[in-house]
Amino acid sequence: MRQNNLSRGSERTYPLRMPPGWEPPVPAFSSEFGAATNEISMAVIGCQFSRPHRDRLYEIVAGLELLLRKVGEADHVDLSECPIDGTGHSQFVATCYWLKPDAMAKFFDTTDFKAFWARHSTEGLAYGVFREFFNIPMKRFETLHSGPDHIVGIAHARQSVSDPILRHAYWGSMRDRIEESATDELEPVGDIEVLEKGPNRIVVRPNQNLAVIRSGQDLTKATGVEREEYFSDIEPVLKAGMKFLRDNGLEEVNCIDCRYMSLLEEGGTRKDHTYGLAYFRSLKDLEQWAEFHPTHLAIFNAFMEFAPRYGPEMRSRYWHEVSVLPAVSQIAEYINCAPGTGLLSGVRN
Ligand code: HEM
Repeated sequence: MRQNNLSRGSERTYPLRMPPGWEPPVPAFSSEFGAATNEISMAVIGCQFSRPHRDRLYEIVAGLELLLRKVGEADHVDLSECPIDGTGHSQFVATCYWLKPDAMAKFFDTTDFKAFWARHSTEGLAYGVFREFFNIPMKRFETLHSGPDHIVGIAHARQSVSDPILRHAYWGSMRDRIEESATDELEPVGDIEVLEKGPNRIVVRPNQNLAVIRSGQDLTKATGVEREEYFSDIEPVLKAGMKFLRDNGLEEVNCIDCRYMSLLEEGGTRKDHTYGLAYFRSLKDLEQWAEFHPTHLAIFNAFMEFAPRYGPEMRSRYWHEVSVLPAVSQIAEYINCAPGTGLLSGVRN
């Protein structure tokens, strides 16, 4: 077995939490990107609306997807919908990734994107738009997949998939998979900073070491009893966990924002594939919620009863992507959005 992203070798200041002689009870895998990839750019670009505008707004985000693929040359784009965000509105979101340095910045600088953005930024429109964009050094990034064959998110652009990894299935394994954590505790520094503020627009920069997670469950291939049991035993506790993070996360566990999303088919129909997109003030806050909070423990425990019943025959797939952001080049812009949208909920007055 070998470990993803960890072969570049460095002395550890902080020990691994992996127990000595650890053998994971089930296999898991990580995406691999090759030594030439030092950074991933990720952007969450979306619109916020109230329900009656759904069809019209889907067209806008579908147009954006086309732009991202054709003009932006994004390495991957997926579309998803959040039925209710932390402000009570809905969102359509394009999540896009680039492996080439500066490709995201170049896209934002194209006349096509600028025209698109200007068209949807006029004061008084019935919807808001936003973009949250992050530059993630590979050393601060990790992925986990329950199956080596499962392709989602940045895995669409990966070079290969690892062999079964050792560093998973114990608390603290997420941190152990992040290379930088060997020498840096990744503690949060500073607050979310307001860079610009106008009548209908606000631009912020996250605090250093903000932790971003996309954590998903893909039921598209699950059938029969497995499918029924997922929806009866796991989905209710998952929804409760996502609701807790959305509504109480900031006060209770330093989760600045959580959106429970459905990935979309072409045309806007929801897939049987959901994920949580959450921003925590720090990796430690994310770890603490996962390890100790009853809402994640309920999800985890339900899964631990469910998964062994299917073993290698399990058709549903589980995955996550986690990044811990350095202070530089991380920006979020909100135009005509409700107060408290996304990272705005973490701005201290
Ligand atoms: C870890 C189950 C949803 C955050 C885990 C692990 C399992 C699990 C089995 C251990 C993984 C390993 O290392 O092998 C699930 C299931 C979910 C779900 C079945 C949904 C049906 C979520 C969501 C989030 C989340 C939505 C966050 C938004 C985490 C984190 C860890 C974790 C941060 C890593 C903890 C650590 O290593 O310290 N979860 N989870 N999970 N989960 Fe979940």
